[in-house]
Amino acid sequence: MDAQAMSDHWGSGDVFALILDAMAAAGIAPDTMTVARMAPVDHFHARGFPATVELADALPILPGHHLVDIGCGLGGPARYLAERFGCQVSGIDITGPFVEAANKLTAFLGMAGQVDVQLGDGHHLPFDDAAFDGGYTQHVTMNVADRAQFYGEAFRVLKPGAFFALTEHCLGPAGDPHFPVPWSEDGSGSHLVTPADTVAYLAAAGFADIAVEDTGAKYAAGYRRALELAAQGTLPPFGSQILLGATALDKTLNSARNIEERRTHPVQIVCRKPG
Ligand SMILES: C[S@@+](CC[C@H](N)C(=O)[O-])C[C@H]1O[C@@H](n2cnc3c(N)ncnc32)[C@H](O)[C@@H]1O
Repeated sequence: MDAQAMSDHWGSGDVFALILDAMAAAGIAPDTMTVARMAPVDHFHARGFPATVELADALPILPGHHLVDIGCGLGGPARYLAERFGCQVSGIDITGPFVEAANKLTAFLGMAGQVDVQLGDGHHLPFDDAAFDGGYTQHVTMNVADRAQFYGEAFRVLKPGAFFALTEHCLGPAGDPHFPVPWSEDGSGSHLVTPADTVAYLAAAGFADIAVEDTGAKYAAGYRRALELAAQGTLPPFGSQILLGATALDKTLNSARNIEERRTHPVQIVCRKPG
């Protein structure tokens, strides 16, 4: 899948306007919006905001650090980390409408001095060598065809000693996920690898101290809860389902089934560039 097709898969049109419409539908006045209140929409990954908080709790981020967010989406995690730790975050994402919305949301929330987002592909990062104190990529690598190149680029732009963290759906032992899922309608652009292969790619890129946590049970419970709310008609209107298109419910159901049937194996990984 080329970059334009990947962008078209994830987002189209005016995503910022879509979010403003959802705020209005939920009765949220724009002048009461904060980084925390935006979280149900702009942490666009399995389990949303709680998963970002758990990842952040595991990272040695200090005030003044400069981090890179590869595949940053709408920039919710970047703004949360910048606000919580007093750090700076530079994001890149392959989806043009998300990049535009991310920068509008950052300005809207008054964080333009701390967070910047640009269009780009994680296979070829537009940053200098050893530029960042830490980096992360949340639920992006399911779409990454060349893991060696992608992790190699992350390694290159990190300073010696910097952390690198990722969350993703790996390939489970039963294989062949049900589609559609959030990262693919029909299997095109889906490039899952097993947890063991992920660790091997990270080690080959040069990363050390690779710690892997199985997040499958937590993610499956999160998907099942969303499905229950949808069945009851009580899913909050201000939620990331607004970004998943017409097949949002199928994608959520399949995400749960894939974990339960061991077709996918979600992980959180934290590692380090030696030095
Ligand atoms: C599930 S969303 C996650 C967004 C964000 N990381 C978050 O957690 O809120 C997946 C994101 O990966 C981006 N993406 C996919 N392949 C990419 C690539 N090769 N380079 C950069 N971004 C990519 C998509 O555009 C999309 O925004």
